[in-house]
Amino acid sequence: MKFLDEIKRRRTFGIVSHPDAGKTTLTEKLLLFGGAIRVAGAVKSNKIKKGATSDFMEIERQRGISVATSVMGFEYDGYKVNILDTPGHQDFQEDTFRTLTAVDSVIIVIDAAKGVEPQTEKLMNVCRMRKTPVIVFVNKMDRPAGDSFTLMDEIEEQLKIQVRPLSWPINNGPDFKGVYNIFNRSLKLFNPNIQEIEERIKFEDISSPDLEDHIGDDAETLREELELVEGVYPEFNSEEYLAGDLAPVFFGSALYNFGVQELLDAFLQIAPSPKPSFAEEREVKPDESGFSGFVFKIHANIDPNHRSRIAFVKICSGKFERNKMYKHIRSGKTVRISSPTAFMASQKEIVEEAFPGDIIGVPDNGNFIIGDTITDNEEIHFKGLPSFSPELFRYIENADPMKSKQLAKGIDQLMDEGVAQLFTSQFNGRKIIGTVGQLQFEVIQYRLEHEYNAKCRFEPLSMYKACWIESDDPKILTEFKKRKHQKMAKDKLGRDVFMADSSFILQMAQDEFKGIKFHFTSEF
Ligand code: G4P
Repeated sequence: MKFLDEIKRRRTFGIVSHPDAGKTTLTEKLLLFGGAIRVAGAVKSNKIKKGATSDFMEIERQRGISVATSVMGFEYDGYKVNILDTPGHQDFQEDTFRTLTAVDSVIIVIDAAKGVEPQTEKLMNVCRMRKTPVIVFVNKMDRPAGDSFTLMDEIEEQLKIQVRPLSWPINNGPDFKGVYNIFNRSLKLFNPNIQEIEERIKFEDISSPDLEDHIGDDAETLREELELVEGVYPEFNSEEYLAGDLAPVFFGSALYNFGVQELLDAFLQIAPSPKPSFAEEREVKPDESGFSGFVFKIHANIDPNHRSRIAFVKICSGKFERNKMYKHIRSGKTVRISSPTAFMASQKEIVEEAFPGDIIGVPDNGNFIIGDTITDNEEIHFKGLPSFSPELFRYIENADPMKSKQLAKGIDQLMDEGVAQLFTSQFNGRKIIGTVGQLQFEVIQYRLEHEYNAKCRFEPLSMYKACWIESDDPKILTEFKKRKHQKMAKDKLGRDVFMADSSFILQMAQDEFKGIKFHFTSEF
């Protein structure tokens, strides 16, 4: 197949949701269609039900054995589909945000009864920031839910995006009869006893009395509602969708595998193939001949005997070839990737080549960090992988003086993986760990002990926010650092960070030093 056709047929996307809305169930049903798995229940939920470390470790162990679940690739109808898994637990949202930098589009799953939930809103904010096209899947229609028009209003208001239903439900809960697919004008009837793929009934003209034969008295309501849909919502316009301004909406029930194939078929037709990526130097188009890619995730294998890791590389342009010499831009070194893995049919396998949109896994002994660029020669640096300002802080101390080297190495590598952020106080030299969730502290402690044979102790630190500071005027910057020297720290890359005790103190500092810019992400 030609290089350009390989790019065009790729669909790399993420499925996101508030925990419990049905992301895992939907992913699994999509994989069933792709033949990537044979039976239901094969996809492990990455949900952390109780929020306990032991749960996290159990999940990590499973994932360590089968890293494949982080990326799931399959062939379907001539398309190469790459689904990127995102953790649902909010303590790991940074990982999710980073994964979203590697996708070309997103499917947002919403629980029909619960509507838009906090995590959905946060994830949508990231998509909006990046102008990522989103499709909404309203799930669990087999359960009692509210009025669909009200739900559409809620989605529009809370997710701040224009919606356009491309399918419409006929009731919900016990009375749920199915959906009318506006996109390809067909009716699909729901039968909770049959989880097989039901046939679609082509229905060009819904005014036909045949509709009554299928759904009885509900036919009239459906006609009225569809008329209202056409009247209220703008026509579906794929350009607006691709620009991230319009979200098509589908209804279904992932559990019953209902409405999933419609979603998949429409998705493949309208979702974007790999899009250009942005490097600091220039825009990089997927169809350029030069190879380029970036590391968006690093996964440690939780095997205490092997401290090997896998760096996940998203290919942005050109063709990747195994054993070819590439350049690791940050170190300037040449790398030869001899056992790159692709994630097909939920298995890892060595690949000879890969194309833009694909993700490859690169075995790593600590050379890569998140955000690294690899090219076949050109000096470019991909951007868009910000570190977010952490919200929880603690001092980290060595609890076993004999193991200080191990501890330093462990902390260093865990920070490279993006587990948390490390700051060094300029006042007393103490090391501070900043995270977005409580769970990370436990994860760090556990992993330091089990993977690096080092022990750490955390000490409380009451801190509101870490902000990266800069100024066009070096004098003001020096003055600020002098005045705030007790609260100044350096991040891992040596950048200046102001550690504010409270929102009040931050506000005061902002008011007093107008010439200083305070950043809440490390990329600016
Ligand atoms: P998540 O990954 O978004 O966190 O959600 P997940 O798919 O794990 O689904 C959460 C719960 O909702 C699961 O039930 C799942 O079976 C159920 N579910 C998903 N889709 C549908 C649907 O379309 N209809 C109905 N009625 N339920 C649905 P659980 O009891 O929490 O988990 P499990 O023990 O069944 O795995």
